[in-house]
Amino acid sequence: MASININYLNLPGDYLFLEISRRLQAYAAKNPKRNIIRLGIGDVTQPLVPAVMSALSAAVLEQGNNETFRGYGPEQGYAFLREAIASACYAGLGISAGDVFISDGSKCDIGNFQEILSPKSRVAITDPVYPVYADSNVMAGRAGRMAANGRFKGLIYLPCTVDNDFVPQLPEERPDIIYLCYPNNPTGTVLSREQLSQWVNYAREHEAIILFDAAYESFIRTPGIPHSIYEIDGADEVAVEFRSYSKSAGFTGLRCGFVVVPPKVRARGLRGKIVSLRELWSRRQSTKYNGCPYIVQRAAQAVHGVEGQRQTSAVIASYLHNAGCIRRAFESLGLPAVGGIDAPYVWVRLPEGTNSWQFFDALLERVHIVGTPGVGFGPCGEGYFRLTGFGNAQETQEAVERLELFSL
Ligand code: MLT
Repeated sequence: MASININYLNLPGDYLFLEISRRLQAYAAKNPKRNIIRLGIGDVTQPLVPAVMSALSAAVLEQGNNETFRGYGPEQGYAFLREAIASACYAGLGISAGDVFISDGSKCDIGNFQEILSPKSRVAITDPVYPVYADSNVMAGRAGRMAANGRFKGLIYLPCTVDNDFVPQLPEERPDIIYLCYPNNPTGTVLSREQLSQWVNYAREHEAIILFDAAYESFIRTPGIPHSIYEIDGADEVAVEFRSYSKSAGFTGLRCGFVVVPPKVRARGLRGKIVSLRELWSRRQSTKYNGCPYIVQRAAQAVHGVEGQRQTSAVIASYLHNAGCIRRAFESLGLPAVGGIDAPYVWVRLPEGTNSWQFFDALLERVHIVGTPGVGFGPCGEGYFRLTGFGNAQETQEAVERLELFSL
């Protein structure tokens, strides 16, 4: 009989959002008449914008025509999309179309990228954190077992709580790989240019690699907040950036994202030989991935056009409006919150001693709203709760009215 990868045995019970969905389904089955408002997983509710729909429809027709039909595409993605990304997102930052790798979304990219780095690498993650960074390193055997305090023994944790304004401090112990996500999921906070520069300088000094998740970049409204890590000098030597069309253009169902791997980002191979991560990622993708569908890449290209930008910005503004309303509703209950200004997530601080899964149950049972318990993102998330601005406007208003009547 074959044996399994026993690292999988170290994974926590279920992926966080699966556990939430199971609890929700159990509650809905017992209470079929309840109008439950779902503000848990960050899934979009507004449809694709017209500019995207017309590019998608045109591409679908091309696929049914002898002259324009396309089979396998380039594994790295079509040049038309990589060029649009390089000029729309990275003008003046030294990033070229050759550094961009198109994919079916950031979750897969950020889960897979660690694969090209040594299984012995030391990994630093923030706490709380998007669970994929931790879980993918558990699968790869870098994290070891979870200790009684809810932390994996092999990972380096960077606490982000009210005590440090949710800004991670540089680690005492040197990591090889550092995961950063800004605007942050789950706290909705951002890093200033100075704060991000500290991380880039640290990575350069300590020969570490930053895996920078910028999936929520398009929600940044505060002037001066960096949209890309490559705005920081020297980041192109140490950072890989991940972006997604899921939240910025409603592609959670359509699926498209990309990774930027500049040629100067390198790591050690055998006998200290320096290897370019771009070459290695290209090798990995061309072996394991057949590329994002042509029609989806045409749809993504339309996001960068004038109409695509205007239309998707309006959708993002409406999600930010929702997030602002949610944040104010909690504040009016006397519960301090962060986020919701440059990010779709609102991170609420629960009263001293309140357990975040108990709060999840109370909110679901008493006002029929689903959120995400902070502890699901790591032990430092205990005592916090996350809601998203991705609901539809009417339901979010209804949720706000229900919240105003809610008391613990
Ligand atoms: C979230 O709710 O944290 C996100 O939707 C998860 C994801 O993007 O995979």
